[in-house]
Amino acid sequence: MIQEIHRIREEALEALAAAQDEREIEAVAIRHLGRKGALTGFLRNIAKLPAAERAAAGKQANAAKKELEAAVQKARDGLQPKRPLQTERVDISLPGRRAAPGHTHPVSQVTQEICSILERMGFSVAEGPEVETDYYNFEALNVPKYHPARDMQDTFYISENIVLRTQTSPMQIRAMEQQAPPVAVIAPGKVFRCDSDLTHTPMFHQVEGLLVDENVSFADLKGTLTAFVHEMFDSDTALRFRPSFFPFTEPSAEVDILCVMCRGKGCRVCGQSGWLEILGSGMVHPNVFRSVGYDTGRFTGFAFGMGVERIAMLKYGIDDIRKFFNNDMRFLRQF
Ligand code: FA5
Ligand code: MG
Repeated sequence: MIQEIHRIREEALEALAAAQDEREIEAVAIRHLGRKGALTGFLRNIAKLPAAERAAAGKQANAAKKELEAAVQKARDGLQPKRPLQTERVDISLPGRRAAPGHTHPVSQVTQEICSILERMGFSVAEGPEVETDYYNFEALNVPKYHPARDMQDTFYISENIVLRTQTSPMQIRAMEQQAPPVAVIAPGKVFRCDSDLTHTPMFHQVEGLLVDENVSFADLKGTLTAFVHEMFDSDTALRFRPSFFPFTEPSAEVDILCVMCRGKGCRVCGQSGWLEILGSGMVHPNVFRSVGYDTGRFTGFAFGMGVERIAMLKYGIDDIRKFFNNDMRFLRQF
C-alpha cells in the first residue's frame, strides 16, 4: 500500500516537472488530485484496507496529497510574470488632472472695483443685514408707514415689521448710530425688490455711500461722483445729474450715463432715452440726522446708492441684466 502511494507521488511529481505550460500543469492536477484522480481514488478506498494498515496508509496518502497540492501551486506560480503588469505601470510623465478653478463673478468683480475706487478716496467699508427691520429700511430714512413714497420700491415683506432690504440706505442709519461725525462709509450688498425686466432683477446689488461733516455741499457730491464715474469708466464718459426725489435726501439727483449700447441714440436697453440710470444721490435730509441724534445745525452730508449690475452692464456692454444670474457658463467664463 505504502509503495502504491509512493508510485503515484513519484509519477505525479515527474509529470509536473515535465509540464511546460498552464494547460499541462492543470492536466497533472486533475489526473492526480481531481475527483477521479489516482490519489483521491486511493483515499476513498482506504476504508477497505485491513484495520492494521489503515492508519499508516491514510497518513501517508494525506501527506502525499498535501505535497502534490503544494507542488502544483508552485508550478502555477512559476508561470506568473515576475514584473508588474504593463497595465499597472505608472506613467510619471503624464500631466496631472487639472482641477477646474472657479473665478470671481462679474458682479463681485465690479463691486470690488467700485469699493476700491471709493476706498482710495477715503471711504471705509461697512456691511449689514439683508433681512432688515422696517425702521432701518424706511422709518429712520424719513419714510413713515403708509407714506406714498413706500410705493417707490416694491417691497418683499417677511412680516409687518421685517423686510428684505430694498436698498442699502439702512446702512446710513446703522453707520451714524455707531459713530459721531465725520463719517465716510460705503456699504456694498444685496437688495431685493419685486421687479423684473431687461434692466431690473428681484435681487441686485448696491453700493451705498455716506459722507457727513461740517460744510459738506452739493458741489462735493457732484465732484465725488464725477471723479468716481471717470475712474470707473473712461475720463471722457458722458454723465448727467438729473433732478430727482428721495425721501431721505433734499435736494436729490440721479446720475445717468450715456447708453453704451446705442451711444445715446436710443434703444430698448435705455428705453429709447439714450441714458441709463446708475445711481441715486442727494444731500442728507435733516429728518435723517434727527433720527440718529446728529446736530442738524452743524453737520451736512451727502449720500448715494449705486446699482452694481447697471454699472457692470455699461462697463461690459451687456444688454440684459438677467444674464448675470442665469448661470450660463458661456457668459460667465468671459470675465
Ligand atoms: C435707491 O435705492 C436709493 N436708496 C438710492 C439713494 C441712496 C438715493 C442714497 C439717495 C441717497 P433707486 O431705487 O433709484 O434708489 O436705486 C438705485 C440704483 O439701483 C438705480 O439707479 C439702479 O442703478 C439700481 N436699481 C434699482 N432697481 C434695480 C433693479 N430691480 N435691478 C437692478 N438694478 C436696480
Ligand atoms: Mg432710481
